[in-house]
Amino acid sequence: MTPAVSTPELEEEEAILDVVRQLVREKVQPRAAAIDVAQEFPQDIRRLFAENDLFGIPIPAEHGGLGGSFLLYVKVVEEIAKACASSALMIAVQELGALPILMRGTEEQRQRILPKLASGEWIAAYALTEAGSGSDAAGSMQAQARLDGEHYVLDGSKVWITQGNVADVITVFAVTDRSKGARGISAFLVEKGTPGMRVGKIEKKMGIRGSPTVELAFENCRIPVANRIGDEGEGFKIAMQVLDKSRPGIAAQALGIAQGALDYATGYLMERIAFGKPLSQQQGLQFMLADMKTEIEAARLLLYEAARKCDAGSPDLTEWAAMSKLKCGDVAMAVTVDAVQLLGGYGYSADYPVERMMRDAKITQIYEGTQQIQRIVIARSLVGR
Ligand code: CAA
Repeated sequence: MTPAVSTPELEEEEAILDVVRQLVREKVQPRAAAIDVAQEFPQDIRRLFAENDLFGIPIPAEHGGLGGSFLLYVKVVEEIAKACASSALMIAVQELGALPILMRGTEEQRQRILPKLASGEWIAAYALTEAGSGSDAAGSMQAQARLDGEHYVLDGSKVWITQGNVADVITVFAVTDRSKGARGISAFLVEKGTPGMRVGKIEKKMGIRGSPTVELAFENCRIPVANRIGDEGEGFKIAMQVLDKSRPGIAAQALGIAQGALDYATGYLMERIAFGKPLSQQQGLQFMLADMKTEIEAARLLLYEAARKCDAGSPDLTEWAAMSKLKCGDVAMAVTVDAVQLLGGYGYSADYPVERMMRDAKITQIYEGTQQIQRIVIARSLVGR
């Protein structure tokens, strides 16, 4: 999108994006296929992002971050995802993990933890989902925390926790008063090495294989009261408010995957000769490219507007965040399927990146709320609960 006027902030953000594009081109893109094959958290990419202050973009300068806009943050995630969805997720989940503290943490929690997240010294995670509680996050939650003097005693288990095995601090949601339903859930910061917390199963996944997804088990795990975020019973509201601001990050990941797939497919069609001319000269394939481009640009406009609403604290950001995730996730899936089709047999081969991009795209329709959940959220903004 072309800004109407150029301001010092916009120029600064463009300069940051230029640096990110160069890092992606020189350091991330060449690693993407190997990261997928290794199925391990890429510590070299984590160091690269840390050295270049990418973990701290939306964290205020007073807490060690860049104090950048939310719009800049989604653009950075998008740029990285064009080459490597797993690496982009590292930035998005750092944001997801930082948000509970940014939005509702005490000053002591903010000072203690945010600078470490901003610098990349610490990795964050967010643990809401359980084996029997995915979409119905509040109603089916089993993990519980019982107050015992100056500590809460946490018992239960969480699944599908992105970066749970490499995280230094995890926001964990647990029931503190079952009789109160969604108003009986609280949020806690659990630090790595806390006795009673252990990493369980590591999922074997279709895509985003460089981003570990794990089970976390809590048994008699004692959390200091000082690590509770917000008041007792406010946990679910915090969880939802955080997702409102983190869903655009996943939308940005999806958009980046889609753009990366379109770029690759376009280049391929211009080089591949069939029937005596480049495939790009076949009108049927041109129409596919045109539709992919149009869908991507429509998704981008929606996402950037959602990000602006996050920056402005707009009252309708809940539905805009959901719409951005819905649109970008669906576009990522459709565009990557078409990109595979455009490459023909090569598209189906792991030797070409669109195969990985198609596998990576799928999760953007599932995590941080399925596309069906996004529709519920959007519809409720029209007709109420
Ligand atoms: N902001 C503030 N408060 C909110 C809210 C929001 N966006 N959404 C709901 N609430 C509040 C409600 O106002 C209500 O509060 P009161 O009791 O005070 O009125 C309370 O929360 C309960 O709300 P609902 O009755 O609407 O709750 P529900 O049980 O019907 O669920 C839901 C609503 C939208 C379906 C929600 O459960 C949901 O979003 N589910 C999907 C969960 C999800 O996205 N999980 C992703 C896990 S994280 C992840 O995937 C990360 C990763 O790996 C990268």
